Amino acid sequence: MLGGLTIARMAIVCHCEVVRERTIVKAVQRGATTLAEVQAACGAATRCGGCEPAVRELLQRAGAPADTHVHIRPAFGLSA
Ligand code: FES
Repeated sequence: MLGGLTIARMAIVCHCEVVRERTIVKAVQRGATTLAEVQAACGAATRCGGCEPAVRELLQRAGAPADTHVHIRPAFGLSA
């Protein structure tokens, strides 16, 4: 523990947007229940998508209902 936070809570989950676990947990505590709501709240999982499974796991651990939406991103360099 460091200043009341565990190492896991300080860990960066989304490296593209530099979002820590504690920020995602805070978003859930403030009412985010879906991946889209977490994305809007803190930007996690909005770029490469590599962290999306971890964000979904955090949502489920926090008791949010399973988000079954499929999120498809355009390849880098292409606009939607
Ligand atoms: S690591 Fe989160 S969007 Fe790339």
